[in-house]
Amino acid sequence: MGNIFAGKNIVVGVCGSIAAFKVAGWVSDLAKLEAQVSVVMTAAAGRFVTPLTFAALSGNEVHSDMFADRGQERMDHIGLGRDADALLIAPASANTIAALAAGLAGDLLQTTVLASRAPVVLCPAMNSRMYRHPATQANLDRLRHFGYTILDPDSGMMACREEGEGRLPEWEMVREYLARVLSPPQLVGRKVVVSAGPTREPLDPARFLSNRSSGKMGYALARAAFRRGAEVVLVSGPTALSAPAGVRRVPVQTAEEMAVAVLAAAADADVVIKAAAVADFRPAETSREKVKKERIAATLQLARNRDILRELGERKAAGQILVGFAAESADFLAEGQRKLAAKNLDLIAVNDIGGTGSGFEVDSNQVLLVSRTGQESLPQTSKEHTAEMIIDRVVALLAGASPGGVVPGSGCQV
Ligand code: PMT
Repeated sequence: MGNIFAGKNIVVGVCGSIAAFKVAGWVSDLAKLEAQVSVVMTAAAGRFVTPLTFAALSGNEVHSDMFADRGQERMDHIGLGRDADALLIAPASANTIAALAAGLAGDLLQTTVLASRAPVVLCPAMNSRMYRHPATQANLDRLRHFGYTILDPDSGMMACREEGEGRLPEWEMVREYLARVLSPPQLVGRKVVVSAGPTREPLDPARFLSNRSSGKMGYALARAAFRRGAEVVLVSGPTALSAPAGVRRVPVQTAEEMAVAVLAAAADADVVIKAAAVADFRPAETSREKVKKERIAATLQLARNRDILRELGERKAAGQILVGFAAESADFLAEGQRKLAAKNLDLIAVNDIGGTGSGFEVDSNQVLLVSRTGQESLPQTSKEHTAEMIIDRVVALLAGASPGGVVPGSGCQV
């Protein structure tokens, strides 16, 4: 699954709010992602942003009038909703939210939503007292009951010079929820635990042992699992990355902290994916005070850390899928097979860290997948795409099938 937005019909409903101008940027991004964007504006929206802005950014005609003369064969209020793959209503005003909750068909946007069976993502944006009013909250509850995805507004200074919740959320967050409603819901009802990033093993308050993991691979896996509908827990070592939308991130520092967090989260998980680069060793002693450089011995005494993946393999419940990673620069297949068996895994992604476009820190990756039934070399591609392909194999394993495309004994290597 490449770009989930490509070729999808997305109706963007824009209501009257000062936040409408932000959605112009969202429409532009969706068009760049190759979605077919149809913008429907309420009459009030046109007071804030002109239809020409949305027409130019979407590359399509903007709709606002239910009775516009388009010839007898076209009925926008039915066709737009019927042909949509998803509807995004942003900013959603209190007025439109109330109308949708009541099932009204008072303007083109309301009628389009009522006539559609596509998933709806709705972003309320309004004054915080209007948002908190029991009427608005009851209306939002009703829309949740209809199956709409309602995104909580952000807090901050509002256009009315009041501080509070009611601002539009960041586009990155909205985009992920939109991707989720467009993706096959193969992991709905499943809990997926992903570990990502490095661990830091302190020598003293200033110094630590660590590695080059950026967390990009693990975060891409967490995003991909969320998109397929999973409840995702991301146990993350220190990284510069923002928490992915909709994912519960548990920040940790050391291998021991990661072990505690992962083992606790994994107890009732359907899938555990260990992309983290856990430090195998820690300094045998950690000083509370910064050690003077003159007093640091030339040879550092090390103690071995717990092997979290091995412990997960020992505790694995029936039906749980356990996926490991292995950072290797040679003997990919042999190392993959050895770790798969030794740690009781269902799948291992052997990561080529010898090249320049794969492994630590970079945005692309190349992995050899090894399962109990065979192996498969994935192409060098983005970490996002690699993550999607690994999640495809996880979905197959959960269904009791051998991971699709893994060819027994094909002998292909990265
Ligand atoms: O974070 P990025 O910059 O995007 O880079 C991605 C990556 C290269 C870190 C990632 O794709 C990867 O290969 N992660 C595993 C790295 C690693 O620690 O490999 P390993 O062969 O040392 O460990 C094998 C497996 O055992 C891993 O799943 C690891 O999480 C696990 N392990 C290792 C040691 C330990 N004490 N406990 C563990 O659970």
